[in-house]
Amino acid sequence: MYKAKNFGSIRELNGISKRTMTEHYTLYQGYVKKWNEIVDKLKAADMSAANQVYSDFRALSVEMSFALSGIKNHEVYFGHLGGDGAPPTGSFAGQIDTDFGSFDQLKKILSAAGMSARGWAWLVWDRDLQRLLVIVGDTQNTYLNWNAAPLVALDVYEHAYFIDYGAARAAYIESFFNNIDWSVAAKSFEALSS
Ligand SMILES: [Fe+2]
Repeated sequence: MYKAKNFGSIRELNGISKRTMTEHYTLYQGYVKKWNEIVDKLKAADMSAANQVYSDFRALSVEMSFALSGIKNHEVYFGHLGGDGAPPTGSFAGQIDTDFGSFDQLKKILSAAGMSARGWAWLVWDRDLQRLLVIVGDTQNTYLNWNAAPLVALDVYEHAYFIDYGAARAAYIESFFNNIDWSVAAKSFEALSS
């Protein structure tokens, strides 16, 4: 059984309220609960009745991806919030310059991805291409590619900002950047790229 992790960022942040963070954490716990439920139900699902139109096995297998991505995305999100937005240093900073030109340019691209997405924008390290990419996601589990891992996860579902910003998503995205601890993303980058 998978257990929800604890995060230091579930508190009042700079421009993101404690209520938003607490409610958001509750949604994450919901993904964990459903993931465990799906894993259990899949063990008992009738595989002989597997069917592409509808079957329990199909429904559980499809939603497994949504639940698991809901866990992983939010763990990246909560894990790198709580910082002060100071730019990254070291090899991660160098890779950002190589792939995007500058840190400011990366932030512009990630912001545009966040404004374009219906759910998420990610900065990922693609192990095959050996480069950083910005990916737009419309749900927890869309437009992902094999062998790429998220270093930054920008949640743009309304639940991430409506309490604090209403429909002003751009202002929320600015707050998101003000609260990122880029050293967390740098650590993930170093582990994945070495
Ligand atoms: Fe979320």
